[in-house]
Amino acid sequence: MVSFKKEETEKFRLAQPANTDCAWGIMQLKIAVLPGDYIGPEVMAASLPILEAVLKRSGHTLEHSTHPVGGAGIDASGKALPDSTLSACQQADAILFGSVGGPKWEKLPPAEQPERASLLPLRKHFKLFANVRPGFLPKTLMDASPIRPERIPNGIDMVCIRELTGGLYFGQPKRTTTLPDGDIEGVDTMVYRKSEIIRITDVAIATARARGKKLLSVDKANVLECSVLWRKVVSEHVAATAPDLTLSHMYVDNAAMQLVLNPAKFDVLLTENMFGDILSDEMAVICGSLGMLSSASLGDVKNRHDLPFGLYEPAGGSAPDIAGQNKANPCAQVLSAALMLRHSFGLNAEADAIENAVKKTIADNIRTGDIAFGGASVGTKEMGEAILKRL
Ligand code: IPM
Ligand code: MG
Repeated sequence: MVSFKKEETEKFRLAQPANTDCAWGIMQLKIAVLPGDYIGPEVMAASLPILEAVLKRSGHTLEHSTHPVGGAGIDASGKALPDSTLSACQQADAILFGSVGGPKWEKLPPAEQPERASLLPLRKHFKLFANVRPGFLPKTLMDASPIRPERIPNGIDMVCIRELTGGLYFGQPKRTTTLPDGDIEGVDTMVYRKSEIIRITDVAIATARARGKKLLSVDKANVLECSVLWRKVVSEHVAATAPDLTLSHMYVDNAAMQLVLNPAKFDVLLTENMFGDILSDEMAVICGSLGMLSSASLGDVKNRHDLPFGLYEPAGGSAPDIAGQNKANPCAQVLSAALMLRHSFGLNAEADAIENAVKKTIADNIRTGDIAFGGASVGTKEMGEAILKRL
């Protein structure tokens, strides 16, 4: 799990809260809850009681309002990101996001589909350029990993730092055109500026310093101009500002291979948007299940507590195939709420309590189907209740 030392948090603008809400350090947390589609509302419903319980115990007050997003937004008001949802997010200290998209809306033009028309604009609007995804496989979950146990005697503990507002996702031009010869051409543009590379490298440096001081930057510098620049800027910036770290570089194809060959060797992996999208799914699945992958998307925008405004979401998607059946794993959503407490509210003890309750539940062999591997499994709701009991 990612945690930052105090000096690091300051560098990464993740300073401890001033606790200015009242003289006794009681915090008022105002969050926008965006459950989204398919399993989104189910895993959200299992997670909120856990969040409420941990905050109630420490005396903080939680004010949350729920808003439609993605397909639910399209159904409610014709837009994947309704104006009322965006404005609720603007007034909140953080966003707790579920998942969006699915077959119901797949006939819409690509740019209007739930994922592209809600999640990406939210990331862009709030300039959430840093996506932090912890990959953690405890020894007790070893049987859920597709990696042979002898390759990971101590489990896996790594973090993927993915650049989130640049590269192929947002570069212009981005279009599909019919050419004069009748052929059709689709174009996406991969573009990075030095300043964008430096700011995400700073996040990776802070993360590496709070962990094993090892930083691996992943690119495709043998082919891509963006990656040549990426490697040069990361190397120079780390040499100039973080000589205490051990920096290495890997091409993305090799990194994909090394992740399954030697996952235990990974610590902090820094990469651009598209590569991070792909490698973080690989990381999640070697850590047991996509249903365990939480994420924090952070930027420079501060909330009322002078801490980073953030969007917190499970990275696994809306899983239409298991929706409505009480089968989805709520852990990624619960762990995303823990990341929210840590990064947007500075509530490290509360975040630890949630993470430990999840670990304890898994160690007690209470599991949803995705991590049960033939053993007995429980439903979404029961998994949530089991975590709550262990808080
Ligand atoms: C993720 C998801 C999104 C992405 C999709 C839903 C747009 O896969 O957060 O990893 O590609 O960034
Ligand atoms: Mg993804």
